[in-house]
Amino acid sequence: MSTVQVPEIKKGLEGVYFTVSNVSAINGQEGRLVYRGIPIEALAEHSSFEETSFLLIEGRLPRRDELETFVQTLRRNMDVPGQVIDALKKLPRSTHPMDALRFGVSALVGFDAEVMDPREGLALMGKDEEARRAYWEKGKRMGIRLIAKFPTLVAAWHRIRQGLPVVDPLPDLSHAGNFLYMMFGEKPTPTAERVMDVALILHAAHGMNASTFTAIVIASTAVDMYSAIAGAIGALKGPLHGGANQLVLAQLREIQARGGVSRVEEWLEELLSRKGRVMGFGHRVYKAYDPRARILKKWAGELAKEKERELYEIAVKLEEINIQKLGEKGIFPNVDFYSGLVYGALGIPTEFFTPIFAVARVSGWVADVLEYWKENRLIRPRAWYSDQVWDRPYVPIDER
Ligand code: ACO
Repeated sequence: MSTVQVPEIKKGLEGVYFTVSNVSAINGQEGRLVYRGIPIEALAEHSSFEETSFLLIEGRLPRRDELETFVQTLRRNMDVPGQVIDALKKLPRSTHPMDALRFGVSALVGFDAEVMDPREGLALMGKDEEARRAYWEKGKRMGIRLIAKFPTLVAAWHRIRQGLPVVDPLPDLSHAGNFLYMMFGEKPTPTAERVMDVALILHAAHGMNASTFTAIVIASTAVDMYSAIAGAIGALKGPLHGGANQLVLAQLREIQARGGVSRVEEWLEELLSRKGRVMGFGHRVYKAYDPRARILKKWAGELAKEKERELYEIAVKLEEINIQKLGEKGIFPNVDFYSGLVYGALGIPTEFFTPIFAVARVSGWVADVLEYWKENRLIRPRAWYSDQVWDRPYVPIDER
C-alpha cells in the first residue's frame, strides 16, 4: 500500500509569496507602508488622490503636465450612463452600498466602448509583444475609467436611496471634493475636501490584501478589468477586511450607550471574555501600530473638536486599554479604527464607510492587476484531498 505524503497546508496563504509586486509594501514589524517606495506619511502630507493613483499605476510621480492630463482624464470619465443610474433606481432601497457598487460596476461594462472580446485576453499569453501591450493599455484605460466612476456610483446610490436627485460631478473639483459634492449636493469645505483626500490616499493600496488578491486571481484568467474589479468589491465588503470600518463605529456607539468612557474597560473585558473581536484592531501583516491609523487618529481628533467628541474619547480610551491587553500579541489599531470617526464627522452614513474604502482602493486594484499582467500566469493553487478515497461506490437514489 502506497503511503501518501501530506503537503504542508498554509491556511489563509499566510506568509506565502505568489508573485512580485512593487506597487505597495508593508513592513509589519516596524509599522511602515510605502507606495512605490514612498512613505505613506509623505503622500498623506503632500500628495493628492489623483497623483497617488498615477504613482501606483505608472510606478513614478507625474510631472506637472502629466498630472494635469491624468486629472483631466479622470474628470472627463466621472459620469455614469443614465441607464446605469436607472438600473440602480430599480434596486431595493435596503441594498447595501457595496452591493449597489458591485452591481453598478457590472452594469457599466456594456457601456464601455472598448469592451473586450473574451479572446482578446489571450494576447497576454502570446508571443506578440504588440498585442500584449495593446491589451495591457486597454486594461489600463478601463481601470482609469473605473477609478473615475467609483465616486459617482457610490454617491448616486446614496442619493437614490434617500429619494434625492442624483448630482453630476463638477469639473473644477478634485476627486475627493467631487465625491463629497455628489453625496451631499453642496461643495465641501476645504477641510472636508482635504480630509477626504487624505483618507483616499491612505486607503489606495496595501500590499497583497484579500481584495487585491481577488482582483489578481480573476485577472489572471485573462479576463477584462471590470470582472476583476467587481470581484474585488465583493472581497472588500467582508467584516474581516474593509467591512470592519462600519462596525467600529457601532462598537463605539455601544460603549457610549452604556455610559461612555468610564465603561470602556468593562465593555472590553466582556467582549474579550467571549472571544469577541475589537473591530479596527489587529492585522495579518502589521504587528505594530498601523501608520495609516496614526494619521487618521490625528484627523479624527481635529474633527472631533466640533462633533462627536465623546465618541473620539471613547476610541482613544479603548485603544489605550486594548493595547495594554493585546499589544504584546501584536494587536494594534488598524486603518479602520479611526476612519469611521473621520467619515462620521463628515456626515457620511455608516453604510458608506466601506464604499469609500473602495473608491480609494480601486486605484491599487488596477495598479496591481496591471503589474501582474506584465507576466501573467493563471492562479490555480491546490487543496489537499484528505479523504484520499478514489473509488467510493455511487449508490442509486432509492438505496440511500
Ligand atoms: N480583537 C481581539 N482579538 C483579536 C483581534 C481583535 N481585533 N484580532 C486578532 N485577535 C486575536 C485572536 O482572537 C487570536 O487570539 P488567540 O491566538 O488567543 O486565538 C489572535 O489575535 C490571532 O488572531 P487571528 O484571527 O489568527 O489573526 P489574523 O492574522 O487572521 O487577524 C484580522 C487579522 C482578521 C484582521 C483580525 O485581527 C481581526 O479579526 N480584526 C478585526 C477586524 C478588522 O479590524 N479588520 C480590518 C483589518 S484591516 C483591513 O482590512 C483594512
